Amino acid sequence: MSATDEIKKAIYAKYPMVYVVSWEEKRVEELLESFSRSAFQDNLYVWSATEGMKKGKDKLDGTQGILDALSFASNAEKGFFLFKDIQSFLADPLVVRKFKDTYFYIKNKPVRVFAMSVLLKLPEELKRYFAVIDYQLPSFDELYELVNSYLSEITKRGAVVSLKEDGISQMAVALQGFTMDEANFALSKVLHRKEIIDTSVLDQLKEEKKQIMRKEGVLEFITDKLTIDDIGGLDNLKDWLIKRKRAFSPEAREYGLDLPRGLLIMGITGCGKSISIKSVATLWELPLFRLDMNLVYSGIAGPPEEAFVRALKVVESASPAVLWLDEIESGITDKYTADSTARILGYFLTWMQEHRGGVFVGATANRIDMLPAELLRRGRFDQIFFVDLPGRKEREEVFRVHFRKRKIDTAKFNLPQLAQITKGWSGSEIEQAIISAMYEAFNQEREMSEDDLFKIFTNSVPLSTTMAEQIKKIRSWAHDRAARASSEKPEI
Ligand SMILES: Nc1ncnc2c1ncn2[C@@H]1O[C@H](COP(=O)(O)OP(=O)(O)OP(=O)(O)O)[C@@H](O)[C@H]1O
Ligand SMILES: [Mg+2]
Repeated sequence: MSATDEIKKAIYAKYPMVYVVSWEEKRVEELLESFSRSAFQDNLYVWSATEGMKKGKDKLDGTQGILDALSFASNAEKGFFLFKDIQSFLADPLVVRKFKDTYFYIKNKPVRVFAMSVLLKLPEELKRYFAVIDYQLPSFDELYELVNSYLSEITKRGAVVSLKEDGISQMAVALQGFTMDEANFALSKVLHRKEIIDTSVLDQLKEEKKQIMRKEGVLEFITDKLTIDDIGGLDNLKDWLIKRKRAFSPEAREYGLDLPRGLLIMGITGCGKSISIKSVATLWELPLFRLDMNLVYSGIAGPPEEAFVRALKVVESASPAVLWLDEIESGITDKYTADSTARILGYFLTWMQEHRGGVFVGATANRIDMLPAELLRRGRFDQIFFVDLPGRKEREEVFRVHFRKRKIDTAKFNLPQLAQITKGWSGSEIEQAIISAMYEAFNQEREMSEDDLFKIFTNSVPLSTTMAEQIKKIRSWAHDRAARASSEKPEI
């Protein structure tokens, strides 16, 4: 059932008070306005802390404070009343009491009170008085309908739609995660003055999505496609991912499999944690969103808790999707930040346990000692993998991957030997060495040779040497808590 239908149902069911959780203030307001017009041939009453109660354009005297505004609603004979940003007022016991009183005043009259906020923050004692509606971002069906209405509109003015059914669905998919306003805006912009509508609009919509996510501040919609062939080694992890390739298909549900919830990859820096998560989305053909916990905590996108919840909602509305939480520990376990850390952690843990939306969480962590035990308990992540330094065979593969990427002829290099002398080097360090060697050769206007590489490997020390103690610690911690991402035994 769409959120609009839910509001309609709540009105028909005659709930005196309804709590609407939504990011789409304008959409909810318009909807209630239209319901108010058809029920009473009259405007909706809207209260906000800044303007008091308004009916249409008219401000009503003596309704600036929420208590007075609620008295006004209690005394009314009929009408719909919308109270905005209600969450911050419900901490006040007087307001809580006033809502209870209001309930009894209005319950036998054609008066409805709608309280709206972006988060559900209903005090225990009010729970029995409110019906709660989660007014989600628009569903796929709603967006599909919207796309169709735009397309038929522009066909009327002579544009040619050369998109197949599948392309139209893809347009709707690209709009998932948008509010209705944003979707309208993006469609008008992308279709503006176009004569022929073809697959190029899909790319433009994806670009719009990137922009909107950027505005969101904490979420990034990632479009670069990294495949598992871009990863050297990590065979156990790849195997796990390949086996779950069809995990989000209807066939998997029919077979009796649950939707996978998430994967935590922890381990040594520069060994492929982040690229592994990127490859999940490509392999499973799902959209990928990166949530930056540092930005969430910075407050740049509003109060951390709200930013976090909104981000989860956006990703949920675009599901099935992969949500990438990079360096999860940076936000979640800092014991010295404010209460919001604990609240977000609590919220996240419950969400991990309960969400059914088809959002697959791909989390990575370096400072595993900082992760709280609750996060690692069974039922949160489907699997926890430990990524170690690459073994000898894996390093050969890493060379192969990066040579191929840079169009370097592998045949001219003795890969087993290169793998031999890079014992203790991470994938990222090997990549950096190749790049340095290439610059060296490029400046001398010749092809890169094995010698260029040898020089670098023999003259520098990998991080694993200076961090030996720390690596030992990470390994022993991971030993009985995580599965090894690769089957190759470590050499050091
Ligand atoms: N196993 C690997 N195969 C191919 N490339 C690798 C591998 N490991 C690392 N790299 C290269 O090193 C770069 C860094 O890897 P990545 O970001 O995945 O490391 P990470 O484990 O997430 O490190 P950090 O803990 O520093 O975030 C990648 O862009 C990739 O090119
Ligand atoms: Mg990383």
